[in-house]
Amino acid sequence: MERRTILVQIDCDPLPSVFDRVVAVDAGVEEIFSYGGVRPEQVRDLVHGAIFTRGVKHLKRTALFIGGSNVEKAEELFDEARRHMLPDVGLRVSILFDANGCSTTSAAAVYSAAQHLDLSHARALVLGGTGPVGQRVARLLARQGSEVRIASRKLDRAMSVCEAIRQKVNNARVEPVETSSSEGTVAALSGRNLVIAAGAAGVRMLTEEQRNKCSDLRVAIDLNAVPPLGMEGVDYRDHAVLRNDAFCYGAIGIGATKMKIHKAAISRLFQSNDQVLDVEEVYELAASL
Ligand SMILES: NC(=O)c1ccc[n+]([C@@H]2O[C@H](COP(=O)([O-])OP(=O)(O)OC[C@H]3O[C@@H](n4cnc5c(N)ncnc54)[C@H](OP(=O)(O)O)[C@@H]3O)[C@@H](O)[C@H]2O)c1
Repeated sequence: MERRTILVQIDCDPLPSVFDRVVAVDAGVEEIFSYGGVRPEQVRDLVHGAIFTRGVKHLKRTALFIGGSNVEKAEELFDEARRHMLPDVGLRVSILFDANGCSTTSAAAVYSAAQHLDLSHARALVLGGTGPVGQRVARLLARQGSEVRIASRKLDRAMSVCEAIRQKVNNARVEPVETSSSEGTVAALSGRNLVIAAGAAGVRMLTEEQRNKCSDLRVAIDLNAVPPLGMEGVDYRDHAVLRNDAFCYGAIGIGATKMKIHKAAISRLFQSNDQVLDVEEVYELAASL
């Protein structure tokens, strides 16, 4: 008999994300076991509970979802979860990392840009490039061969992100830029054909005047849905809306793609018991939809 699908939600927040549970239900998961406030030392027993109960041939019907609003803490849980699988004897379950929506949101943004630009030749600027979403957007773009400027109010923070990406992506073409002043932002945008604003919620990262100074711009994506929006003049509902020769996307416009990717990633977990879906794998999945 086919076993029921079980998603074990391991969340670093005291209350496990309702959003992630709803998406799991909509993706067809039959049972969701939600654990909140999970600390790294508690992950081993949760993993063991998942891998030791069903026979190997049924393990693809159990999967893990690692989430929570603190992406760094969730990354520790993700590392721990992978560490406690026993792949040599086939005792493992598939796992998706999407803390604070960082994997699915970054994948949706880069996937949207790829509908208009050959990313291997794109010249990108990632505003708010030091946050969890911005870092992943920059990493995905660098992997596609784009030339990526990573912006921060502090140059040393942008430099650290560039270094971390170089460690993960061979020959990454990344450059740190400082955008603490309007002049710095205009200079950072100069010559770019893609800009993605991944700044904090409710923070304006780019004005219309600054954006209009860049005549090369072909795609502008804002991920912030909280007013004031990240890019002045880009509506939060925009989905490939042409404004001043650039295809524009707002946070809600990207949201529909993000939801599609999120559900597809959950479904993919139950196809086999050996999948590890981090941002790169989630992006590959998006590209194949
Ligand atoms: N649509 C979705 O489903 C979805 C899902 C997840 C996230 N998001 C959105 O994606 C965006 C990025 O998320 P995140 O979690 O990566 O953001 P975050 O960590 O809160 O912020 C990203 C970066 O913004 C910069 N920043 C913070 N406050 C600033 C200020 N007052 N002025 C200028 N820059 C400031 C910081 O960079 P520096 O300190 O280095 O300058 C920070 O690293 C957010 O707007 C979030 O709401 C959307």
